[in-house]
Amino acid sequence: MRKPIHHLTRRTVVGSLAGLGAAAALPAFAQGAGAGPILKKAIPKTGEQIPAIGMGTWITFNVGNDAGLLNKRTQVLQRFFDRGGGLIDSSPMYGSSEATVGYGLARIKNKGGLFSASKVWTLFGPMGPGQMEASRKYWGIQRFDLMQVHNILNWTSHIETLKAMKAEGRARYIGITTSQGWRHGDFEAIMRKEPIDFAAFTYNVIDRKVEERLLPLAADRGIAVIINRPFQEGVLIDRMKLHPLPPWAGEIDCANWAQFLLKFIVSHPAVTCAIPATRRVDHMEENMGALHGRMPDAKMRGRMARYAVHQL
Ligand SMILES: NC(=O)c1ccc[n+]([C@@H]2O[C@H](COP(=O)([O-])OP(=O)(O)OC[C@H]3O[C@@H](n4cnc5c(N)ncnc54)[C@H](OP(=O)(O)O)[C@@H]3O)[C@@H](O)[C@H]2O)c1
Repeated sequence: MRKPIHHLTRRTVVGSLAGLGAAAALPAFAQGAGAGPILKKAIPKTGEQIPAIGMGTWITFNVGNDAGLLNKRTQVLQRFFDRGGGLIDSSPMYGSSEATVGYGLARIKNKGGLFSASKVWTLFGPMGPGQMEASRKYWGIQRFDLMQVHNILNWTSHIETLKAMKAEGRARYIGITTSQGWRHGDFEAIMRKEPIDFAAFTYNVIDRKVEERLLPLAADRGIAVIINRPFQEGVLIDRMKLHPLPPWAGEIDCANWAQFLLKFIVSHPAVTCAIPATRRVDHMEENMGALHGRMPDAKMRGRMARYAVHQL
């Protein structure tokens, strides 16, 4: 019997990838993806369209004051925008990541599509406004497009602050986040009763629980959905890269596993945007390729899930 994937660490997978030459297994269509229109999806409450692949910043952008690393992340950010990117997600919980985003934004071109998303993350309601103002300054922006309550921590207090911010035009949209199935009961209750625009949670080809309740509820309530941890913090994609893509991946224009995993997510009708995180320009290039070409329909999505689970 195979070990469940959550027993893997990233180190074991990367170690075993090294000897495999997994890229050699890629089919011929791997060379091409990239040109043409990109997949955008509408925010249900307003109809505003945003690119269906955004980017996360947890760990990957927490580089402190290291000038070399700051400049490398700036290159990642530049590639994100050059490939049509929009939504960037961060949080005061992510160490220096917000400052790294601000460092990069101040130095790159072509960033007009930015859709800024951060979070409030404190046990103490009165500390929320100051924390969000500090985040805004780190990013170097006039206001956030989206402000979320991180992990629904002290949400009863923060949600009132967020509603007031939105009413005053200091945030365009408001939302809540969780991940990996955490507090889904409470999360669902908030989705039902609060006037939120966005909900963020985990969904990927081997973690599909949210198909039962949260995704249908979001569609029903007109709430935009951000999907975090699309690669299970790297463990899932490392594991998949040990195997060849299925021969039929070309039918949905997937040149690599990143595109296979991301197209599975963003083709769900209730999903607005997935936010993979990366330190690397070449990985950003792979990820943004998921915005191009044919997308799977419901039948193909089932086939993708069966194939992926079979590789574990
Ligand atoms: N409660 C919350 O609100 C919450 C919780 C979790 C996450 N989030 C948000 O969601 C974002 C995404 O989640 P995550 O960062 O935990 O995990 P993730 O996006 O599932 O995985 C990130 C890892 O995938 C690797 N990766 C990215 N692209 C790759 C590619 N093309 N090929 C191979 N490896 C690739 C990265 O390594 P390399 O650097 O080597 O590319 C990185 O280690 C976070 O950054 C954060 O913004 C929010």
